[in-house]
Amino acid sequence: MVSDIAKILYHESTILSRLDEMAHLITEDYRGKDLTVIAILNGSFIFMADLLRRIPLSLQVDCWSVSSYHGTRSTGQIQFRQTQLADVRGRHVLILDDILDSGITLSAIKARLAAEAGAESLRSCVLLRKQVERVCEIQAEYVGFDIPNEFVVGYGLDYNERYRNLPFIGVLNGPAIERHAK
Ligand code: IMP
Ligand code: MG
Repeated sequence: MVSDIAKILYHESTILSRLDEMAHLITEDYRGKDLTVIAILNGSFIFMADLLRRIPLSLQVDCWSVSSYHGTRSTGQIQFRQTQLADVRGRHVLILDDILDSGITLSAIKARLAAEAGAESLRSCVLLRKQVERVCEIQAEYVGFDIPNEFVVGYGLDYNERYRNLPFIGVLNGPAIERHAK
């Protein structure tokens, strides 16, 4: 699996040091507030686990299963796989996602929350933000790393459901992309 990687962008130690900084910021911003973290699966499962263990607040967690990507290109359509959402009325909500790319996913999630939830506040936190022109104009308040417009895998991020378990973030080589194309 590691031999499928053309280039490593962030080693695990670099990611974890950045998570220390992000967790510190989030802890200070939400101290004394009722915080619900909504993590977007599958991509954010490792990010969520590592980040949340660094935040010593009495927060609540809900996981939403959402998908929009096929291969290395966004389908532009969002599917929510569950119907029952956590009750966040009067709570401060922080959405966690692996990567902000076109912005379609995050805006759909924000729209759904704004429409039905009655949250006290709504912010988002992404590990990666791609330097691209976004289809949906959307900001993330907390960002781990800004990356160039390349398709990346590892640390939760997949290519057709593979490579999520790599401990680092990297770029696939051509043969691997071909081998696992759908
Ligand atoms: P967006 O809706 O285009 O912003 O894309 C968001 C979702 O697409 C993310 O949550 C990821 O699951 C997936 N995605 C976007 N870029 C990449 C990438 O470079 N590698 C793997 N998944 C990606
Ligand atoms: Mg994906």
